[in-house]
Amino acid sequence: MDKAINKVKTSFHSELESCKTSENLEQLRIKYLGRKGQLTDLFNQFGALSNKEKPKYGKTLNILKSDLTASYNNKLATFNSDQGSDDKRDFSLPGYALPKGNIHPLEHVTDEIKSIFQSIGFSVAYGPEIDDDYHNFEALNVPKHHPARDMQDTFFIDSDVVLRTHTSNVQIHLMENQDPPLRHICCGRVFRNEAVSYKSFCLFHQVEGLVINESSSFAEMKGTLEYFAKEMFGKDTKMRFRPSYFPFTEPSAEVDIWNDKLNQWMEILGCGMVNPNVLENVGYDSEKYQGFAFGMGIERIAMIKYGIRDIRLFYQNDKRFLEQF
Ligand code: DAH
Repeated sequence: MDKAINKVKTSFHSELESCKTSENLEQLRIKYLGRKGQLTDLFNQFGALSNKEKPKYGKTLNILKSDLTASYNNKLATFNSDQGSDDKRDFSLPGYALPKGNIHPLEHVTDEIKSIFQSIGFSVAYGPEIDDDYHNFEALNVPKHHPARDMQDTFFIDSDVVLRTHTSNVQIHLMENQDPPLRHICCGRVFRNEAVSYKSFCLFHQVEGLVINESSSFAEMKGTLEYFAKEMFGKDTKMRFRPSYFPFTEPSAEVDIWNDKLNQWMEILGCGMVNPNVLENVGYDSEKYQGFAFGMGIERIAMIKYGIRDIRLFYQNDKRFLEQF
């Protein structure tokens, strides 16, 4: 019996050594480990042994069985992991680069505007893009049928709900929700039902600014906006304030920036001292508090900064355009 066991053991291992393919290995498995294989033979012989010999050979046979099975499994595993070896892929080649996205120029400019104003103590606020007539117009001193409504062609959702035509609606939400002093900006999308052309689109972005306290002045507003323009466009930027009219400010002005690339003045914002009527509408004491507000077009600023001539480019998602920023 000892001899038979040793023989199976040695021949199994030497044949295992010379197995080159998984077919060879399968044949080996059948020959030794299969139902009618040599190991089974040994177990059959074991059955015929005397009770005295059984404990000794029982143990030896079990050890042999686990040895053969483990060796077989190891070999099988090396075949499986080598399976890709006749694969033609070359893993040392450089991979395909995934196309990288770009930060949209409007996002760039918005971030820059935010950080300029944050550096002089403004907080960033948010407000709704869909709003009621009251917050978008009425509370801003633009009553129904007021001719000033014609300044902004409006998308109505129903007779009382609009896509905001400017970010000025956020002024009202801010003042309704907190007491002075206020020093906030708010950036976001606004919508106007205008004929689309190189200079106007049905959707664009604004930054609204609002400062309310007991001491702010037109001079402070001018200084703030001048500081902004110099930070944004450079120290030598030429800017001018023109008297203007907005129902929610009095006095009001518009600010133009000289566009070197297009050789012309470009309006970037409207501003003014908050109209006392607006303060009263939100329950502020207009004898005690005063403030200034401004609203600027982000597309305009990006167009001046980058020399872009057509506002529609911002909305076409053309990678050739977007990749330039
Ligand atoms: N809301 C105005 C517009 O969209 C811009 C504006 C002008 C905002 C004067 C202001 C302001 O806050 O004080 O045309």
